[in-house]
Amino acid sequence: MSLAIITGASSGIGAEFAKQFKENGLADEFWFIARRTDKMEALRDSLGVKARIITADLATEEGIGAVKRALEEEKPLVKILVNAAGFGNFGTFEEVSERDCAAMIDVNCKATVLITHMTVPFMEKGGRIINLGSGSCFTPLPAFNVYASSKSFVLHYTKSLNFEIKKYGLRATCFCPGWVETEFLGKATAKPGITHPKAMKPMLKCSDVVRKCIKASVKGKTLCVTNWYTKLQHLLFKAVPDVLLTKTWLGMLTKEEITEEKEG
Ligand SMILES: NC(=O)c1ccc[n+]([C@@H]2O[C@H](COP(=O)([O-])OP(=O)(O)OC[C@H]3O[C@@H](n4cnc5c(N)ncnc54)[C@H](OP(=O)(O)O)[C@@H]3O)[C@@H](O)[C@H]2O)c1
Repeated sequence: MSLAIITGASSGIGAEFAKQFKENGLADEFWFIARRTDKMEALRDSLGVKARIITADLATEEGIGAVKRALEEEKPLVKILVNAAGFGNFGTFEEVSERDCAAMIDVNCKATVLITHMTVPFMEKGGRIINLGSGSCFTPLPAFNVYASSKSFVLHYTKSLNFEIKKYGLRATCFCPGWVETEFLGKATAKPGITHPKAMKPMLKCSDVVRKCIKASVKGKTLCVTNWYTKLQHLLFKAVPDVLLTKTWLGMLTKEEITEEKEG
């Protein structure tokens, strides 16, 4: 049996990893971790696989503790870990609450680090870790600041991790796609009257980007950037001063005024 542990398995990119791992035989047993139990059960049933469902809010100590307890109880042999749980809120300094800032850091950074830390001792030689970065992790992005900064953290964390886990025969890949068709952007713009990009295009197909990431991970690559325009951005970010790119980004932002509904 080959076990894959996937956080954020209840939708989007995490669920697509499960589907493709099963299709290409990389894993035949799963642990799915997220808050929405019904979605993870539906995924397990649709794939017809053995899966332990861990319902956990990874922004909380209890949620992280539930994963730790499961690992210590079962002492599984893990082949693949995917840290896909994450979210982002658009909005300026004034528009994003302290609570949302903290939750983004807790899920995107803290949970990624802690779940990696507690899973590595259970991973088999040749095992793979995939951490969800983002095309937004390469440069400062006002009005997506905490999210983009959290993904920068994931990028640097993954790069260093590779030096640290080499002795165990493990490799980690930071996966940085552009905008992907999932629930992510709907949630990121869910609050009315916040600053956000006018257009989020091109939108990438989840199945395409995940396929590319799996290839990169199997090859042991540290970084997987998809697709061509995100690769171009990545190159530009290296060559052009941050301030110029950040100014271009600022020109792409918009904000709808909230109008009061008139009665009668
Ligand atoms: N879509 C994009 O454009 C895009 C681009 C680059 C990177 N990414 C990254 O890709 C990853 C997956 O996102 P997605 O696009 O697949 O979005 P999605 O469809 O919204 O999926 C996000 C997943 O994260 C889980 N999650 C969120 N908050 C959680 C919490 N507090 N505790 C436990 N699980 C939580 C969600 O499960 P529950 O709601 O059931 O808890 C869900 O399974 C994220 O890290 C995101 O930052 C997305």
